[in-house]
Amino acid sequence: MGLKIIGIIGSPRKGMNTDTLVTKVLEGAQSAGAETEKIYLNDLEIMPCQACSAFPAPDYCFFHDGMDRIYEILETADGLVIGAPAYFGTFSAQLKLMIDRSNCLAEMITLPNGKIVFKSRIQKRKKGIFIWVANISKDPEHALVSLRIWSKYFANINLVDNLIVLQSDFGGGARKQKELLEKAFQSGFLLGKS
Ligand SMILES: Cc1cc2nc3c(=O)[nH]c(=O)nc-3n(C[C@H](O)[C@H](O)[C@H](O)COP(=O)(O)O)c2cc1C
Repeated sequence: MGLKIIGIIGSPRKGMNTDTLVTKVLEGAQSAGAETEKIYLNDLEIMPCQACSAFPAPDYCFFHDGMDRIYEILETADGLVIGAPAYFGTFSAQLKLMIDRSNCLAEMITLPNGKIVFKSRIQKRKKGIFIWVANISKDPEHALVSLRIWSKYFANINLVDNLIVLQSDFGGGARKQKELLEKAFQSGFLLGKS
């Protein structure tokens, strides 16, 4: 059986730039033999982190809502494609909700040298691709800082590729750019076969 690759879409706009690009990556993964699925964060009804302070173990959170589906994906998928539009220089609230509600996926560990590090409670190691879709912003670094921390310490994801899309609403929109779609397909192909 092929790898299980899941697309997580952080834009509320179905069929637009982020959705189209994540879909293309998934098509590439399918062409390499992977089994794929698409999740729209906007449909999951995820409530904001309440900073309970107590640790919910063995659960990942005290609250049970749309995040339960995400926790299940993090435990079982072989690869993730996470796409989000640039909102105010970072990314959409839909993606931020998911990231904040991952806070209890990691435990703080004190190393023998006294250094404190986060260790993910998610056993399954996965590969990931992040797609950032911006119209006038040019610098993805604020979005990437957050995504890298979430991926490495909380979700147990090795981010292997980023697709940074600029001028997404120019011309016919990023979703109509053949070269970009081909690039997304290729990066999905690599994710799906590895
Ligand atoms: C609330 C909001 C904030 C936005 N902020 C930015 C921004 O800071 N930088 C930018 O380049 N585009 C910004 N945009 C434009 C979107 O990133 C752009 O339209 C993108 O293509 C949306 O992705 P989608 O087509 O997948 O929905 C913003 C759009 C909205 C609705």
